[in-house]
Amino acid sequence: MKMDIINMTDISKLYKTGIIQVEALKNINFKVVSGEFVSIMGPSGSGKSTLLNLIGCLDKPSGGSYELSGHKVEKLTDSKMSEIRNEFLGFVFQNFHLLPNMTAQKNVEIPLVYRGLSAKARKELSEKSLELVGLKDRMHHLPNQLSGGQQQRVAIARALAGSPALILADEPTGALDSKTGGKIMELFTELNENNKITIVQVTHEEEIAAYGGRILRLVDGEIVSDMETNRRKNG
Ligand SMILES: Nc1ncnc2c1ncn2[C@@H]1O[C@H](COP(=O)(O)OP(=O)(O)O)[C@@H](O)[C@H]1O
Ligand SMILES: [Mg+2]
Repeated sequence: MKMDIINMTDISKLYKTGIIQVEALKNINFKVVSGEFVSIMGPSGSGKSTLLNLIGCLDKPSGGSYELSGHKVEKLTDSKMSEIRNEFLGFVFQNFHLLPNMTAQKNVEIPLVYRGLSAKARKELSEKSLELVGLKDRMHHLPNQLSGGQQQRVAIARALAGSPALILADEPTGALDSKTGGKIMELFTELNENNKITIVQVTHEEEIAAYGGRILRLVDGEIVSDMETNRRKNG
């Protein structure tokens, strides 16, 4: 059964710095159901990262209502919010955010430490998710011994290790050449189709966005279009 993972109603976000106010998001209304792969597109400054941060409970909206997997986010305490973040969400960033002095495997284990898993369970789960991204043979390498594409795979394995319902990715291919970026998109497509992981990614590149089954377009903080892609129509 398809469930609402994201449900935003009239969401807005106002940034106040001194006397200047920026209305980064306004009138945001959309839902994402389980199993979708959604790309959020828009020019620089259109509010993509702000929206992804709200979806990921890294920040709170100024107005409106947001339900994440049935939890009303505005009613949550900060500690409940981080619990839900840890349980439901996996994050992937443009610059990988790996810890430089830890092996690939130790990096993947980080979110599992917060879950209080034993060393043995962490080792098993991290191996499994590195295998899923095709990097089992690089487990004991440090980030600087890996290519950019491999580092992003480690970051994806880290996001996957806790079996999240939803992966959130902000410009996941932004630091990669287009061929390597395509490989990361093939991996996302596999994870979405075979492992049934819901994915929401932000990108400003049309070719990358087209890997999703649906594209939301933002201009000046508002959704101006919400359409299925050919991938979804043909698939
Ligand atoms: N922490 C912040 N404080 C003040 N203004 C911000 C902050 N973050 C983003 N903004 C402003 O909000 C708007 C949307 O930014 P952002 O969500 O980062 O856009 P995008 O990711 O699409 O480039 C921009 O005008 C930006 O300058
Ligand atoms: Mg951004």
